[in-house]
Amino acid sequence: MITVQATGKQFWTHDVEAYLFFMDEDLHTASNLSSLGEVEKYYPDVKDVLKKHKFDGKVGQSFMLTAKRNDKLAEFIFIGIGKCNKDWNVELETLRRALGSAILLLKKSNTPSAVMALPPAKQYSIDDYELLKQLTIVAHLASYEYITFKKSKQSNWHCNLIIEVKLAEEAHLQQALNEGNIIGEATNMARHWADLPGNILTPTRLAQEAEKVAIHNNLKYTVFGKDRAEELGMGAFLAVDAGSAQDCKFVVMEYQTNLKHVPTIAIVGKGVTYDTGGISLKASSYMNGMHYDMSGAGAVIATMQVIAQLKANVNVVGITPLVENMPSGTASRQDDIITAMNGKTIEIKNTDAEGRLILADALCYAEKFYAPDIIIDIATLTGACLYALGYFYAGLMTQDKQLLDILPKVGTITGDRVWPLPFDDDFKPANDSYVADVANSGSSNYKAGTIIGACFLSEFVEKARWAHLDIAGTADAVPKVNYLGSGRGATGTGVRLFSEYILNYSKYQ
Ligand code: BES
Ligand code: ZN
Ligand code: ZN
Repeated sequence: MITVQATGKQFWTHDVEAYLFFMDEDLHTASNLSSLGEVEKYYPDVKDVLKKHKFDGKVGQSFMLTAKRNDKLAEFIFIGIGKCNKDWNVELETLRRALGSAILLLKKSNTPSAVMALPPAKQYSIDDYELLKQLTIVAHLASYEYITFKKSKQSNWHCNLIIEVKLAEEAHLQQALNEGNIIGEATNMARHWADLPGNILTPTRLAQEAEKVAIHNNLKYTVFGKDRAEELGMGAFLAVDAGSAQDCKFVVMEYQTNLKHVPTIAIVGKGVTYDTGGISLKASSYMNGMHYDMSGAGAVIATMQVIAQLKANVNVVGITPLVENMPSGTASRQDDIITAMNGKTIEIKNTDAEGRLILADALCYAEKFYAPDIIIDIATLTGACLYALGYFYAGLMTQDKQLLDILPKVGTITGDRVWPLPFDDDFKPANDSYVADVANSGSSNYKAGTIIGACFLSEFVEKARWAHLDIAGTADAVPKVNYLGSGRGATGTGVRLFSEYILNYSKYQ
């Protein structure tokens, strides 16, 4: 666990266990707020010491020195941030990961307190406010404890991280800190849910978690199960639920501003708490890890908490259809024909393409009851997305020029990155069916499984400006990004992206 503070009080006046220095390749500290002056009292030739130990400020390097300061042992931790020259353009992501490795070092050494100085933001083409927010978020993400159920006790490390900022900005930056804390904690909450196994995080349990979020944050909360779904004609949602002994839950959370004449944004998340594939059963090696198939829903619920706590200036509705995809005597079959809420018939060619079925009804529901201006859905929708884009970028599919332009930018600022895939009507006939309006699995002649999945969803959006995010790659096991678990566990992808976009909606117009 970590708490983060921002203060105008000078770096060396803090009586902490660790002093952090972000160093460039000339062995200069990134911020002149944190000069090496005092270290040189204990290590007069500190730069030579660093070089001797092969620390030369390169990205990914770190080094620790210890000295007695104020009668107790203090650690000086050096972290490389790479090249610095006149047109210094170290990417913000590099700095995020540098802070990530610092936090992981503090955790490993069980260090309870540390101080660092805010690096100069303009080198990252952002302001101090945004930079402090981003670093605060990362401090939380790097501190996340991957859930295990071992008898042996988990770490009870607690650390207080102090970030020195310019005194004149101290008051103003408290809000950046607050935003960072709220977004960081919510992202970790989404990671925790996605890391829980399918026997524990059932649709009922995730709905309860959403209800808790709603109650604590004054959001309107609606939940219904099979009966109401039948009344609404949600044949697609119910077809996925049909094989499971768990109850399905359809959860809606609403945030309303006091402002008039503002747009409504709907965020819709796939919530399959376990995806066996159903009757089109996955081979066991492909099934492993499928408890994370509710990551989209988790991102939506966690984002609603952020939106409520930071009081967005737009209306937001979060919609999550929650089901378990199981094979059984009551499960849907291949070749079944069902009817979605908008009356379109769907041929189920493959019960493992279940995400698009539950989202079909969720998209119809969003439009019917909220007529949102914008809908963004988020889903671990296709294995093909891993082949197209790998782990570092979520797939973005939209025909809306503005969303296509803005979402990748928001992704770069937040580190929750997205990359567009082509999305035009040429791909649509892939989902043609001989017997129904549309098929849930595309003709293999068309390949491009990720885009074809998005084409299916487009059949269920009529009026709203709409974008689809495929997070099959980014939702867990992202290699090497230290603050996201270095290849292990859920990442909470979507929370940072949605939060930044929605909270700054007018800025991004
Ligand atoms: N949840 C999976 C997507 C997935 C697969 C994510 C592998 C991560 C790794 C989804 O429900 C699914 O099974 N999709 C099928 C669709 C196909 C049957 C059209 C897929 O990707 O194979
Ligand atoms: Zn599936
Ligand atoms: Zn799935």
